[in-house]
Amino acid sequence: MTAVHVRTTLRPMRWWDIDPVMALELRLFPDDAWSPAMYWSELAETHPGGNRHFTVATTEDGTIVGYAGLMAVGTEGDVQTIAVDERHQGLGLGALLLTDLVEESVRRGCTELLLEVRVDNLRAQRLYERFGFVPVGIRRGYYQPINVDALVMRLDHPNDDLKESLHG
Ligand SMILES: CC(C)(COP(=O)(O)OP(=O)(O)OC[C@H]1O[C@@H](n2cnc3c(N)ncnc32)[C@H](O)[C@@H]1OP(=O)(O)O)[C@@H](O)C(=O)NCCC(=O)NCCS
Repeated sequence: MTAVHVRTTLRPMRWWDIDPVMALELRLFPDDAWSPAMYWSELAETHPGGNRHFTVATTEDGTIVGYAGLMAVGTEGDVQTIAVDERHQGLGLGALLLTDLVEESVRRGCTELLLEVRVDNLRAQRLYERFGFVPVGIRRGYYQPINVDALVMRLDHPNDDLKESLHG
């Protein structure tokens, strides 16, 4: 598929974004898509003082072409989701969204960031490795009903690694 080079902007995800986000979600995670109810419940915790941070990437006409979400509890952050429209992949948008989550985790005082990624999703794993995430374990059968294992990856001291991935 040909990638489309367009200017994109990040902004907070709002409840009215759930429908277009779900259209992407069903395409990009055909085996284990989140439901609209899951997005409603995540966004309910994005208020000031809440422990979630969800972002969308939009084109100039407002079309959502990517999104990502973070949970931050105490000093631990967790990348909840990250996805980019197939037509916009390979242009650095995934890195932009991940940078947004890492920066937000640093602002919230997280000293470690964790995530789960399908063991067969090498592309996403490469993105995480570029940011300094390292594999720390396997969760057997984490993705159901397809029964695929998750690789758990961790980034310690995200502030330092962010500086390196941006300037290194
Ligand atoms: C994983 C995912 C979010 C990455 O998004 P992306 O926008 O393609 O990510 P990036 O463009 O930042 O980086 C991906 C690749 O593009 C390359 N790239 C980045 N900027 C580029 C540019 N300007 N020109 C050409 N290539 C570029 C990167 O080097 C990288 O290559 P690699 O995969 O060989 O290492 C995306 O593939 C996706 O949505 N996948 C489906 C959902 C999914 O699996 N999500 C992760 C769940 S854990």
